[in-house]
Amino acid sequence: MARTPLLMGNWKMYKTVAEARAFAEALGQQSSALRDGVEYAICAPFTTLHVLRVMLPAQVKIGAQNVYPEKEGAYTGEIAPVMLAEFGTQYVLVGHSERRTLFGESDQMVNHKVRAIIENNMVPVLCVGENLSQKESGQTQAIVSGQVVQGLAGLSASDVAQVVIAYEPVWAIGSGKTATAQDAEVVAKEIRNLVAEQIDASAASSVRILYGGSVKPNNIASFLQQPNIDGALVGGASLDASSFADMASAIG
Ligand code: G3H
Repeated sequence: MARTPLLMGNWKMYKTVAEARAFAEALGQQSSALRDGVEYAICAPFTTLHVLRVMLPAQVKIGAQNVYPEKEGAYTGEIAPVMLAEFGTQYVLVGHSERRTLFGESDQMVNHKVRAIIENNMVPVLCVGENLSQKESGQTQAIVSGQVVQGLAGLSASDVAQVVIAYEPVWAIGSGKTATAQDAEVVAKEIRNLVAEQIDASAASSVRILYGGSVKPNNIASFLQQPNIDGALVGGASLDASSFADMASAIG
């Protein structure tokens, strides 16, 4: 089945409202790089989502980087799914390695968030990946499989079909080192096969799988050429509008 490619930026904890506005204006001037048939999104700090929704070219959707999986309540400092959905957030990152490592986000919490995001008609981007010692000890498949199965637990096949899974080897994030496109394809194919075996073949053919980890304008095309990689989740190289436009051009 044909899957729509997705170029997604993750700004992490970068950019003020003024800086986000400047990015949106600059990308607007380069919007000829954006193509029909490709989806684009920026996952930005909460404080910049509004200005991005108003100012980004219409083809570029907004995403959040986190959410708390309750409807409302005494959860000081947290943001509920309905608050994100209310003003047009389409995607929410879940289980990014920085959240798993720095904030102790468990697979159980990741699953809770995935289900809450779907219930609020947004798309979860489930991030999975092995760290360096896990890679070196041959545990990549076991770690990634465990994170996928636990992250998607309890979802219907039709829900899984809408999910985006981002394979991001932890050792490749922000390091300048990437997995080879071939190695990333091996893991992406394993993820798709796992979804087929554990959930549903049709969902497996629909679910989109991204690669993330030091993706740049000069290497993004090699990942998108792989049959099981449907897009990229990009950190550092998504912060600059020209770089984002260059990546859009490279995959267009
Ligand atoms: O979510 C994005 C990843 O953490 C990748 O970040 O492109 O800066 O390596 P990076």
